Amino acid sequence: MIKGIIFDLDGVITDTAEFHYLSWKQLSNEEGLKFDKLLNEQLKGVSRNKSLDRILKHNNTTLSETKQKDYLERKNNYYLQYLKKITQKDYLPGIKNFLQVLQASNIKIGLGSASKNAISVLEKLEATHFFDVIGDDNSVKNAKPAPDLFQYVAKELGLTPNECVVIEDAAPGIEAAHEAGMKAIGIGSKEILGNAEIVLESTNFLKLEIIQNI
Ligand code: BG6
Ligand code: MG
Repeated sequence: MIKGIIFDLDGVITDTAEFHYLSWKQLSNEEGLKFDKLLNEQLKGVSRNKSLDRILKHNNTTLSETKQKDYLERKNNYYLQYLKKITQKDYLPGIKNFLQVLQASNIKIGLGSASKNAISVLEKLEATHFFDVIGDDNSVKNAKPAPDLFQYVAKELGLTPNECVVIEDAAPGIEAAHEAGMKAIGIGSKEILGNAEIVLESTNFLKLEIIQNI
């Protein structure tokens, strides 16, 4: 029986992917690095540090630790400027209502986000109160696709893995859920998220019955 839902944040609760894209793009332009939408797709669900690693690899280049720190800080500063635009109107379709339904049904709600900015984003959306447990990139050492974050959130919720379902928009997140022994609902395309038990085109199609029958 499913007693808890663990939500990814970026691309599930709100659409911050474009802001991540624009921030990496700005940094890449300044530094003469190649960066495009296709590469950005591969950064979904990937931590900030690992994202930079992938961009550098794509450009066949490496950086000193000091430079890496500088790039990561600059990218995040650009991203924080974009985050200022988020308001309580910026939930993805149907998500606020779905959170309300889960809460009214006594289903526990957790967040399992690869972002270090997760709490700020939830605050901007005025969504913090929905979550019984908030897990982000500060909560565990190993980022998705490692199972650590979802295992941490389930434990804090007081639930076993098979009592939890993960909702994710990125392949590393689906992998992390499965590694953690949890079923996963993918939001997006079947081509990318085909390993999930269920794939929905949009958050608008999330329903309690889907979770109960998974
Ligand atoms: C994930 C996003 O949720 O968080 C990634 O899908 C992002 O694109 C990662 O790189 C880390 O985010 P932040 O806010 O810590 O830079
Ligand atoms: Mg995501």
